[in-house]
Amino acid sequence: MTSPEPTTIADDRHLASFNIRFGWIALLVYVLLGLGLEAIHGFKLGWYLEHETRRLMWTLAHAHGALLSLIVIVHGALLWLWPATDEPWRRVASACLLAATVLLPAGFFLGGAFIYGGDPGVGVALAPVGAIALVVGVALTARNLRPS
Ligand code: HEM
Repeated sequence: MTSPEPTTIADDRHLASFNIRFGWIALLVYVLLGLGLEAIHGFKLGWYLEHETRRLMWTLAHAHGALLSLIVIVHGALLWLWPATDEPWRRVASACLLAATVLLPAGFFLGGAFIYGGDPGVGVALAPVGAIALVVGVALTARNLRPS
């Protein structure tokens, strides 16, 4: 079995800028979702406002998505500020945070898109997967990130 290629400062900078760009694009998506919710309120659409489960799920999708996007931007900025070589945890933590930024809100959104009585649809199963990815990413960063 071959060991992973050693990473250079240039690789690390690439990872940092990827996180920052991903975070801004994700923030755009989730802020647009907020704008969509605002419009739904404006037009007083019953299929959202009168279904408590859908409203809760989509509000959770919007709020978690926007907040996670901000976390990804901050994470990328800190990777950029404190570069390092040969610290594989940085790639793993980034992958976990990026996965959480997609899966957690997507789970809430899908759960609200297809509701069964008062219950969210099966898509909500993505949310706990995203939550686990988030916990792993945060734990790795808390354990390893140091000013350089
Ligand atoms: C960084 C940006 C944002 C963050 C962190 C954020 C966060 C949140 C949070 C935490 C809630 C839940 C509030 C509650 O239920 O008590 C919420 C709800 C809401 N947000 Fe945002 N938001 C952001 C941007 C926006 C933008 C730009 C818009 C639209 C112009 C928007 C529209 C809404 C609407 C309409 C709700 C209420 C949804 C409902 O209850 O039906 N948000 N947001």
